[in-house]
Amino acid sequence: MLDSRPTVYIETYGCQMNVSDSELMLGKLTASGYRPVDSPDGADVILLNTCAIRDHAEQRVIGRLGELKRNMKADSVMGVTGCMAQRLGPLLLQKARHVSLVVGPDGYRALPALVDGARRGERAIATTFDLEEHFDKVEAWIPVQRGCDYRCTYCIVPTTRGSERSRRLADVVREVEQVASEGMTEVVLLGQTVNSYHDGTDGFAALLRAVGAVSGIKRLRFTSPHPNDFSPAVIAAMAEVDAVCEHVHLPMQSGSNSVLKRMLRRYTREGYLECVERLRAAIPGLALTTDVIVGFPGETDADFAETLDVVRAVGFDDAYTFKFSPRDGTPATRMPVEMTVPDAVATERLARLIDTVRRGSRERNMTLLGARREVLVEKGARRGDLLQARTRDFKTVLMPGDDSMIGRYFTVELTGTTGSTFTGAVCHNRERAPLPMAG
Ligand code: 5AD
Ligand code: SF4
Repeated sequence: MLDSRPTVYIETYGCQMNVSDSELMLGKLTASGYRPVDSPDGADVILLNTCAIRDHAEQRVIGRLGELKRNMKADSVMGVTGCMAQRLGPLLLQKARHVSLVVGPDGYRALPALVDGARRGERAIATTFDLEEHFDKVEAWIPVQRGCDYRCTYCIVPTTRGSERSRRLADVVREVEQVASEGMTEVVLLGQTVNSYHDGTDGFAALLRAVGAVSGIKRLRFTSPHPNDFSPAVIAAMAEVDAVCEHVHLPMQSGSNSVLKRMLRRYTREGYLECVERLRAAIPGLALTTDVIVGFPGETDADFAETLDVVRAVGFDDAYTFKFSPRDGTPATRMPVEMTVPDAVATERLARLIDTVRRGSRERNMTLLGARREVLVEKGARRGDLLQARTRDFKTVLMPGDDSMIGRYFTVELTGTTGSTFTGAVCHNRERAPLPMAG
């Protein structure tokens, strides 16, 4: 039978929060009679769920909007959602005449009505913040908090996503139970500064304990925390809840105190290192990854050298590295122009930083060759007929096998490494993962 429902296509940019929001939007639209499709060609509704964190992210979307315009049907509706929609608002409607919907990150609830309106020829903007936020999505990436109350001077997020709101603990637990009943065993709690979670009654430590206690949940992760919100109670919960994985993504941004101060990160290099020590003392075998920005206004060679120092001192398992990208309206753009770091300097620093990170992680990963690890098989790998699996400490392992293994746990021996990812072979003589190894 011919399906006469209008079709909707959503393309997602940026962070995991956006991936999660896209699913929410798709859920809302499906519930009101739309049919999801996985190609923009011929779709009745095309939505780009966007990111505004760096200029590069926005330029990609602008390019893509032009590309899609050339191929869209005359009566298709094109919409921009997410942080770029929030940031640019009416400007998007002015600049891109084929866009008829601009909806901020909190607008997904009104989305079906807005899309219906757009299909009748209306153009609309919805960029107010919804402070009474509730979440009604069922998935293993679980948003527990939206918005951010920190005011890092480079960051657009407090502008695009508003102030911090936490979901009620009971609601999160209910969603985790639902996910577990569908057979999922790993959950990732999402929030902009997720460990500052507080629903008015319970904080992040209580949340970890409650989610970790849900039957069937074997792995519990969260992203991204702020170093200042690792209270002793949170660290104790991480150490004591079996499901909490031995990996923390701990954004550092810079290793120089003067840069950290101008970034308004609210910790010093020493404070960051102390946080690392407290985490490592409580959680043996902890893997650490981070975010680093180079070329922040006023960053000197000496400041950058301090960043490299801390990167080497901590021994990160991996790092996301960024060149500072000025975002309109953020305090960093109002710093004196003399403080601007020339692009060539920033580019060169970025290359050195990446090199330092790679050397460190390769060295660490080499020491793991021959070790056994429990992995959860996530999906087919992009190349060949390999599967992609992950260890509790967040290492990617490529291993032979078939689709029936997806979603299951195996013990593998780490047989090779490219320096960043591993190859692994299933250990057949053991049913279960060995106990954590000493040393
Ligand atoms: N320029 C460069 N990097 C940025 N980030 C956030 N804002 C900017 C910016 N204006 C980086 C930070 C953050 C990560 C998600 O993106 O490192 O942790
Ligand atoms: Fe942005 Fe800082 Fe908030 Fe992270 S903590 S979202 S970097 S303002």
